[in-house]
Amino acid sequence: MADRTLAAFEQENAKLRQELGRVNRERVEYLQNVSHQLVAPLNAIKWHIENLTQGRVGVERGKKVLRSVYSQATLAVHLAKNFALMSNLESDLELSALREPLQPVNLCQLLINLADDFQPQGWDKELQIYVEDSPLEKAPDVLVIRPLVSQVFTNLIENAVKYAKRSSNIVITGEHDPKRDLVLVSVRNHGIPLRPEDTTKVFDRGYRTQEAKNLYPAGTGFGLYIASKIVAVHEGSISAFMDSRGQVVFNVSLPVKALAGKARVRDPKNRPSC
Ligand SMILES: Nc1ncnc2c1ncn2[C@@H]1O[C@H](COP(=O)(O)OP(=O)(O)OP(=O)(O)O)[C@@H](O)[C@H]1O
Ligand SMILES: [Mg+2]
Repeated sequence: MADRTLAAFEQENAKLRQELGRVNRERVEYLQNVSHQLVAPLNAIKWHIENLTQGRVGVERGKKVLRSVYSQATLAVHLAKNFALMSNLESDLELSALREPLQPVNLCQLLINLADDFQPQGWDKELQIYVEDSPLEKAPDVLVIRPLVSQVFTNLIENAVKYAKRSSNIVITGEHDPKRDLVLVSVRNHGIPLRPEDTTKVFDRGYRTQEAKNLYPAGTGFGLYIASKIVAVHEGSISAFMDSRGQVVFNVSLPVKALAGKARVRDPKNRPSC
């Protein structure tokens, strides 16, 4: 009897060690992937600045170089933010356990700011990012953790820019659904396909489609996983599909005030401007 208990215990122990080994390997792979991806934009910035300071570029070309420095720095910052979020989001998240307070956020303004942030990166591929302000501008503010929700849309817009085909448009729309009292935002682009069998898998940790791996080898496969975790914490939903015209659409819905009373709310006097 004691032998059997010991054998079962050892079996369980071996399983746990195997699982721990797998998690550790994944962690190391992720760290290597992130550091590899961070080095690329930082090297590009270094190289551009070297060219500028050595006077190797004229004024007109200099403007382009500075735009590129800005895009590369934006990429590096977003990557670092995702990295920081990963450690927070790994454990099962409770809204009340998060350090940041809830605050009313105007999604229209937030999306316009993010689109402006990513437009220089878009220019490199002749992409235009549009935020259709009607009817989104009429939507009420949503009560959310601003930096987290900003990261959700950052990850979606970053993907749209990365996976869009050259000379195409990225269109962001949104509206208020008064019945369910939520704001629905859609981000659309035309580029690599998203097959029906991949529409849920893309939210899994580390999952990348074959086309993404072939055409854009750099990527951790964590951006959408992070986005889906954040949306879940906010009691919202996120989904993806490819429409009949071949556009890839990501939909995010966030409740307007369902979270009131569930976490600390920022003092309105300390509210940062959009
Ligand atoms: N707009 C899009 N069009 C087509 N496929 C997409 C789009 N956005 C995401 N995908 C697919 O979903 C996968 C997961 O996206 P996710 O953002 O999580 O990771 P990633 O972009 O590969 O890497 P990173 O962690 O650097 O963001 C992508 O690799 C790609 O296969
Ligand atoms: Mg991504």
